[in-house]
Amino acid sequence: MQHEQGPISELSGARKRIPPAILAFFIQLGALGLTWLIVQVSLVLFEWRWLGWVLFLLQAVLASLLAIVFRMPVWWRLIHFIFPVAIFLMLQWDVPAWVYLSAFIFTLTLFWSAFKTQVPFYPSLPATWYQVKQLIPEDKPVSVLDIGSGLGGLVIYLARERPNAICAGIEVAPLPWLVSALLSAVKKSSARFKYGNYQAVNLSEYDIVFAYLSPAVMPDLWQKAVKEMRSGSLLISYEFEIPGVAPKWQIQDRSDSPCIFVWEF
Ligand SMILES: C[S@@+](CC[C@H](N)C(=O)[O-])C[C@H]1O[C@@H](n2cnc3c(N)ncnc32)[C@H](O)[C@@H]1O
Repeated sequence: MQHEQGPISELSGARKRIPPAILAFFIQLGALGLTWLIVQVSLVLFEWRWLGWVLFLLQAVLASLLAIVFRMPVWWRLIHFIFPVAIFLMLQWDVPAWVYLSAFIFTLTLFWSAFKTQVPFYPSLPATWYQVKQLIPEDKPVSVLDIGSGLGGLVIYLARERPNAICAGIEVAPLPWLVSALLSAVKKSSARFKYGNYQAVNLSEYDIVFAYLSPAVMPDLWQKAVKEMRSGSLLISYEFEIPGVAPKWQIQDRSDSPCIFVWEF
């Protein structure tokens, strides 16, 4: 997997990465300014009057071009194009305001601080849960933590399959956390879910830490794990490697599926 780095900005002499969501906001704003400028110039010079859909298309093209200039990853260029086009289409349908508000609140509670953490919600699947289970001993009471536990599927599964283990999850987004806590209660699972940021958790309390996060946070996670994790404990990452740190094991159940990387301390 190729790890794409975000654009780097110079701020107060220190090299800092601009969060992509913030950069995206300014790119759309810049494209809006350029669109306005083009409309004004063409009106004054040629008395052109632009059709509504052409203006939205112009905004979409300019935003995508700016995304290329600012070296945003490919999917962001696509998002920049789709965003103004989607606004135009939605304006054609008379959608009531409460639908937008509900969609906004739903998205906010699902993705919450993803713009800051750069780790959106997307769940792992039972095939991965099965592989993780194989790494947990059956005969001794180990403690397992999923950092960023999403809807809690993995933790609830592990609690059922490894009754000797103490299985927990921590999740920063309110909606997935609430769903995981409710699911655990309904299924009478011993899995426990905490609402919060894993960065505030001391990883030394766990024998096995599982992460399914994003390439952007792996170097920081490694620094934290090196500082805190006990000798003999395992850090497991699904899909994302730690740059420059070779895992002890690498597991892949199918040639086209992402790997599970395991580091032992
Ligand atoms: C890719 S999902 C994985 C969900 C789950 N582990 C699974 O395997 O299905 C990553 C989750 O981590 C959460 N997350 C991201 N940064 C976090 C942080 N600093 N603390 C706690 N949760 C975080 C996100 O909200 C998201 O739900």
